[in-house]
Formats: sequence, structure tokens, C-alpha cells
Amino acid sequence: MFNKIKSHGAMTASAFLGVALAMLLAVSSAAPVRAGGESPETPRRDWSFSGILGKYDRAQLRRGFQVYKEVCSSCHGLRLLHYRNLAEPGGPQLSEAEVKAIAAEVEVEDGPNDEGEMFTRPGKPSDRFKSPYKNPQEARAANNGALPPDLSVIAKARGATVHLPWYLEPVKWVREVAAGYQEGGADYLYALLTGYEDVPQWVQKPDGRWERLAKGESSDKAKECVSITRSASGKEKCVPLGDGMNYNIAFPGHQIAMPPPLSDELVEYTDGSPQTVAQYAEDVTAFLMWAAEPKLEQRKRLGIQVLVYLAILAALLYLTKRKLWSRLEH
Ligand code: HEC
Repeated sequence: MFNKIKSHGAMTASAFLGVALAMLLAVSSAAPVRAGGESPETPRRDWSFSGILGKYDRAQLRRGFQVYKEVCSSCHGLRLLHYRNLAEPGGPQLSEAEVKAIAAEVEVEDGPNDEGEMFTRPGKPSDRFKSPYKNPQEARAANNGALPPDLSVIAKARGATVHLPWYLEPVKWVREVAAGYQEGGADYLYALLTGYEDVPQWVQKPDGRWERLAKGESSDKAKECVSITRSASGKEKCVPLGDGMNYNIAFPGHQIAMPPPLSDELVEYTDGSPQTVAQYAEDVTAFLMWAAEPKLEQRKRLGIQVLVYLAILAALLYLTKRKLWSRLEH
């Protein structure tokens, strides 16, 4: 019996070691070969919705919606959102009339009618946001084979890049929880939208290693590489930019099928905000954060109420304890 348990324990231990080793291998093989080829750490930004008292900036959400509508919506859907959400508290809070007008701009398929036919009608506030493509196949066909993802929850589905050795990963989690950092997705989206650059130039040294040319430096032997990888035999290889791809410093692997969607003066703001890529990126990111987390403000408010409640409870418990124990002390 005892033996059985012991051998069972040994098996668990070896399985554990195996898993740990596999994880180590997976992490080390995924690590980029060379500095310059890897994604830089995602810079943290100060968002109006950061921190325990964070709130969305209504004017920013409205501008962000405008950028989504005029630019991104030609390729990306937001199918978890309904037009009426735009008027709800905690969001852009457009007026009912504005929402009606926005919804009415799209044609929606409805039906069947009494004859069993499908028909189209103007959109209503209760409709979902209309996606630009009927199905993923159509979306791929229109985008060079790449699928523009639905953006409903993208701000939550992505996170910031942080360079820490794999064994310090738990430290990262603790740090983020302690600091209340929940804006990794937003920081990444901003970095992505502002991360289009020229493809870096690399030169191969006589020993076969690739070295990145500094900005402004040039050489006739230079090649454009999005990253440098190492084959199993240890040889370094320059990965060229693929056909129809774009270099982006924040995107994993640095080549993205999405062409730079933003440029200065592209969207006309009516509130006097700067019409720059940086401002558009910030506004549309805030809007996508709201789309992914429309109840953020309620959640934070409830958190504060709970803290106040617990503080009062703690004070009452302390006073009760003093009262009960006072009989023993005297
Ligand atoms: C011309 C079509 C087009 C437009 C316009 C466009 N995108 Fe994209 N987008 C794509 C495609 C295609 C992909 C998939 C890229 C890939 O997988 O390489 C993509 C991917 C993305 C991703 C996912 C990146 C990731 O980490 O996987 C985000 C976020 C995104 N787009 C945001 C936006 C925003 C915000 C706008 C508007 C400012 C926008 N896009 C405008 C085509 C477009």
C-alpha cells in the first residue's frame, strides 16, 4: 500500500518536472533571437479610466466612436454592441435622436414577412452594429487573406508586452493586481495604432550574424528584415516583409496585414481636439475599451461602496471587541 503511494508520488513529481521542462522549452524557443527583433515593452499611458476612481471621458468616447465609424467600421465589426448602447449611462451617452439617426444609416436584413420573404429596412436602435462583411470568408477575400477581427472585446483580449524572465511571471501578476493595472489592452491598442514604421535595415556580418543599422545609417549591403530568427543549426536568417504586409513595431512578429488605418487630418473633429494620429488612436482606443467594458464605471463605483462598507464594519467590530473585552481587563 505504502509502496503504491510512494510510486504514485514519484510519478506525480516526474510528471510535474516534465511539464516544467516543457514550459521552459516552450518559453525559450518563443523568445526572440535578437534585440531589435522583439516587441518593445508596451508603454503605459494615463487613461481617464485608469485607477479606482477612473471614468470614461464622454467627449473622448464620442470622438472615438466617430473614428470607429468613419475609419475602422469599413473592415471591423462590433457585433456585441447595439446602437442603443450608445445612449446608455456610462458610455458616449448620445441622445436618443442621434442614436436613431445613426442606426437608420444602415440597411438591415429582416424577415421573413407574411409572404415568407426576407426584406431590408433601415436600422433601429435595438439592432446590433452591422458588420462590414457577411461572413469571415468574405472578410478574408477583401483583405488579402487576413481576417480583420471583430473589435467588440479586443481591448480585453489583448495585453501589454512586459519583458520579464519567465520565472518572474507571477511577480508580474502580483504587481499588476497590487497596482490595479487593467489597461494593458488599451496600452497595446494605442501602441499598435501608432506603431507603423519603416522596416529596419540589417547588415550581415562575415560571421553570419545580422546587425541592425542605426536610424540614418546606410549601407549598400543592407537588407530590410522585420526580424531575425535562428534555425535549428544556429544560423541566423533575415525575415523579409511579406507581400501586402506592413511593418508595425507593436504587433507580435512585426508584420501585420492591416494597412496603417490612421493619418493626420483623416477625421474631422468638431470639438477642436487635435486631428492627429496620436489623438485619433487615443480616442478610438478609449471607445473600444468602453465597448469591451461598458460597465466599468458601475464596477468601480461598487468597489468603492464595498470598501466604505468594510471600513464601517471594521470600525464596528473593533468597538464591539473593546466593549466585550473591557469586562476582562477591569
Ligand atoms: C482596410 C481594412 C482595415 C481597416 C480600415 C482597419 N483595419 Fe484593423 N485589421 C485589418 C486586418 C486585415 C487585420 C488583421 C491583421 C493580421 O492578422 O495581420 C486587422 C487587425 C486589427 C487589430 C488586431 C491586432 C492584433 O493584435 O491581432 C486591431 C486591434 C485593429 N485591427 C484595430 C483597428 C482600428 C482601431 C481601426 C480603425 C482606426 C482599424 N483596425 C482599421 C484591417 C483593417
